[in-house]
Amino acid sequence: MWQRKVLAFLALAFVVGTWSAYHGTGEGGKADAQVRRGVDVWQANNCVACHQLYGLGGYMGPDLTDVVSTKGDAHVRAFVQHGTLRMPAHPITPAEMDDLVAFLTWVDASGQSRVPDSAVHWTGTFILTP
Ligand code: HEC
Repeated sequence: MWQRKVLAFLALAFVVGTWSAYHGTGEGGKADAQVRRGVDVWQANNCVACHQLYGLGGYMGPDLTDVVSTKGDAHVRAFVQHGTLRMPAHPITPAEMDDLVAFLTWVDASGQSRVPDSAVHWTGTFILTP
């Protein structure tokens, strides 16, 4: 009789495991209108030429998938507005900046960059030692 209980438990664990695999963390939720406007700002300014999201994109700058949660939105705003010696400043409007940050926040909630900072060389390329 106890075998039935074990079987029932395993069946339940399978159902719960399957459900959580498809509904668990890793979903950023639906993109609202502001997030979609942020995509336009991201594309119009060609950020992807130098930056990656989810590991895809240019390699001159770092991956920005998790930049909002790891460094904060003020950090993002400062880089975009003022640039650095290696990144050009992007004079976008305050509304566009809000949209861009909303987009990057949404990306952050929906995925993880697997490239640690320590693997990015100062030239912007990756150090691919195992
Ligand atoms: C011409 C290439 C280039 C473009 C275009 C570019 N960036 Fe950058 N970005 C860089 C480089 C290189 C760095 C690293 C700068 C440094 O450390 O001096 C950087 C750094 C950053 C950082 C800081 C990242 C961190 O981990 O601290 C953010 C945020 C950022 N960029 C956002 C953007 C956004 C948003 C856009 C589009 C509006 C953009 N960048 C366009 C090259 C670029």
